[in-house]
Amino acid sequence: MRKRRVGVLISGRGSNMMALVEAARAPDYPAEIVCVVSNRPGAAGLAWAREQGLAAHAVDHKAYATREAFEDALHAVLMAEGVELIACAGFMRLMTAGFVARWAGRMINIHPSLLPLYPGLNTHARALADGVRIVGCTVHHVVAEMDAGPIIAQGAVPVIDGDTPAALADRILSVEHVIYPQALALVASGKARLEDGHVRILSTVNQTARLISPDVG
Ligand code: GRF
Repeated sequence: MRKRRVGVLISGRGSNMMALVEAARAPDYPAEIVCVVSNRPGAAGLAWAREQGLAAHAVDHKAYATREAFEDALHAVLMAEGVELIACAGFMRLMTAGFVARWAGRMINIHPSLLPLYPGLNTHARALADGVRIVGCTVHHVVAEMDAGPIIAQGAVPVIDGDTPAALADRILSVEHVIYPQALALVASGKARLEDGHVRILSTVNQTARLISPDVG
């Protein structure tokens, strides 16, 4: 098995990046994390990556006059590291259509909602305001439209009465850390294949999984 070379893009604490790095330590994992890149030089995740001995780069968006110039610099770093697949993990910059086209089918992202519900920011507060009973997270291919793109994997958790946005964020985050490594493995191994704008899973799946909320026994 040839491991696919993955670059992880972050902007902050990087807990999803850490989950990917930990998962990729398994000998049979189909991808290796070859670098971590942040648009914020002070990102906590970047310091962690350095401590782990990973290649960790800052490409500060503020240092570039245009979005395109920033993306060219980012692209150059990724090419120099031999990156084949990009995993965005809390990367808080919108990509231009040009950058997305360069990485089409080779760039994935995690978003803290069950897309296509709640794209954008403040997903947890919006879900609470709507009174939904099940929330979750989505790993998807990146397309030019924000938080859209073919869905690879989703995970769901219940909303509990009295939840705050922060409580919901924590509950969802724990599932993000499970589905992101799984989704990256599916993509890297070719078991999640893009076909006509949808993802086809070429693997045996558990067909009986259910989440009922409220689960009152
Ligand atoms: C996660 O909730 C992710 O879904 C969203 O931003 C957050 C990043 O958290 N895109 P972390 O930096 O991975 O801890």
